[in-house]
Amino acid sequence: MTSIEHHHPQKQAPLLQACVTATIDLALSFKHLHWNIRGPRFRSVHEFLDIVIEHARDGTDEIAERLVTIGMPAEGQRTELDKSPVPAIESGFLSDEAVLKHAVAILDETIKVLRDAQGKLGDLDAVSEDIVIGTLANLEKDLWMLSSQLGPTS
Ligand SMILES: [Fe+2]
Repeated sequence: MTSIEHHHPQKQAPLLQACVTATIDLALSFKHLHWNIRGPRFRSVHEFLDIVIEHARDGTDEIAERLVTIGMPAEGQRTELDKSPVPAIESGFLSDEAVLKHAVAILDETIKVLRDAQGKLGDLDAVSEDIVIGTLANLEKDLWMLSSQLGPTS
């Protein structure tokens, strides 16, 4: 028994796991977009998607390790992805405009999952909440940068 007493690990676990699942799905979906993009904005969007993927993967790792820190298992297998709310993408090549729209929609859904968890974790454990906030800060900035490329009204 250590000196750290974790607060409500059973209540925290599903909130943290939802963030792990959504960020894994985001990283996989963004690689699909990264590979299949076609069009005049190929290079800038192709490269920016990899930056978002790094943010998502860093978030997955931090949040999964928080789960284990509080004594709960982290689930990282493909079967878990069926529970992800991240919208699916059609197969095949995609225009740069379509890639941007998919990326914005996927990022938006992922942020909703993290925001929901962050709000509920705020009543349970400030350290877990802070870890989710760190990932949110990166992904929300990424959403601004991606949606800005769709035009002034997006
Ligand atoms: Fe690549």
